[in-house]
Amino acid sequence: MHSAILLQGLTLMPAVNLETVAIIGGGVAAVSFACALRAGGFNGSIIAVSDEPELAYDRPPLSKTFMSEGGDAVRLDTSRATNVEWLHGVAAISIDGRQRRVHLADGRSLPYSALVLATGAKPRPLAALANVELPSFTLRTLGDARGIRARLVAGARMVVIGGGIIGLELASTASRMGVSVSVVEALPRLMNRCAGDVLASFVAAQHAQNGVELWLGKQVIGCSLQGVLLNDGTTVPADFVVVGIGVSANDGLARSAEIACDDGIFVDRYGRTTCPQVYAVGDVTRQRNPVSGHFERIETWTNAQNQAMAVARCLLDPTAAPYDEIPYYWSDQYDQRIQVLGIPQGDEELVRGNAGNNAFIVFHLLRDRLVGATCINQPKAVAPLRRLIASGKTPDRKKMIDIDLDIRKLADDDQQ
Ligand code: FAD
Ligand code: NAI
Repeated sequence: MHSAILLQGLTLMPAVNLETVAIIGGGVAAVSFACALRAGGFNGSIIAVSDEPELAYDRPPLSKTFMSEGGDAVRLDTSRATNVEWLHGVAAISIDGRQRRVHLADGRSLPYSALVLATGAKPRPLAALANVELPSFTLRTLGDARGIRARLVAGARMVVIGGGIIGLELASTASRMGVSVSVVEALPRLMNRCAGDVLASFVAAQHAQNGVELWLGKQVIGCSLQGVLLNDGTTVPADFVVVGIGVSANDGLARSAEIACDDGIFVDRYGRTTCPQVYAVGDVTRQRNPVSGHFERIETWTNAQNQAMAVARCLLDPTAAPYDEIPYYWSDQYDQRIQVLGIPQGDEELVRGNAGNNAFIVFHLLRDRLVGATCINQPKAVAPLRRLIASGKTPDRKKMIDIDLDIRKLADDDQQ
């Protein structure tokens, strides 16, 4: 809260003397930022520093098509980021806010007139797996994906620890490849961070139908070469383990420069941090969620791209619209396209359509207010629902579940 107040005290300054922009990070937020600067007419120098050795690549396919089909990584399109100097395989290790320089691990020091932190997030480790010989992985990078993929052979036994979005996408891909998959989730239901009860139950049924064994409400207390030991005494047999128990922000660089952070760099809608001329975008940020009003980390691809583009535009033109989008993510599991808008948790869920048909919408309400929507195989509903949730209005409950009422009419009627 203290940091949020600090951010509110910042005043907008026009982007004078913007000569050199240094971007730290090589993911979708970094690339989108560089592209948007050039699209906005910036012709100063841009240098982007990534500690990964690879050219910029996209992460969503790593748990989906890349995992099932292999081949080359899906590269992020950098063609619109003309004249950008990309440094790969070198980390930024410290920021000197007074001198406006960022220091790299190879001894170089880069001057900046604006510094953009797009350092993303990293998987949380699981202490119970320390010093165990059973092969274990996390899934964040292309290298991680290659390591896991090499083990996805029919008949192999994979235990996924964490029934969140990464574990479930991987479970869906791997079970279709003939891998025997078990998922261990600490809480009594799946996708606790990012789904409501209806979606969690729907997804659990999909996995069960596809032969995935679900261990809900269980803790992993140890591991041996035979498998994973649960707190009820069960050993779940495994040839290898994948841990997907959430991520934490790569905010160490910012913290060491005394920029306000709390598992994420606090930013305002212009991407400004508490240090002058230092901005942050993407998974590493803790920003005000326009639906909840709270400072949160929004761990989605669409946020990383669109927040970065909006912040770049505002850097060039302080009158440009600041970032204010409601959260959105998609997930592909088996043949189901899941799309989630706003806050998918509240105190009431209304289902429009029949969940048994694999094509339905869930409205999420909190204290009688519409705060989110989950679409299962309803892609055309996403744009009108985004408009509706952004409007802050809550249609009549009967209208929301009336399948004869066109969803566009529902959204637009209610904004009149
Ligand atoms: P990142 O992609 O994490 O990139 C940050 C980069 O900065 C990394 O390359 C990191 O190594 C580098 N870096 C960190 N510190 C330093 C430093 N000090 N110096 C230099 N470089 C540094 N989202 C969806 O909405 N839908 C999906 O279907 C989906 N699927 C996903 C599947 C997988 C397997 C994963 C891992 C994520 C998925 N996501 C999905 C989430 C989405 O990919 C992230 O929200 C997005 O990648 C965030 O982008 P970013 O650029 O902010 O951070
Ligand atoms: P998550 O936060 O979605 O899920 C973690 C799950 O692990 C939760 O259900 C939690 O209850 C459980 N958990 C925590 N500790 C545990 C423990 N000790 N034992 C067992 N279960 C435990 O995080 P996840 O799935 O690791 O995803 C990581 C990141 O990847 C997120 O930022 C996510 O947004 C991103 N991602 C997004 C995708 C998408 O949007 N489609 C797909 C894949 C990844």
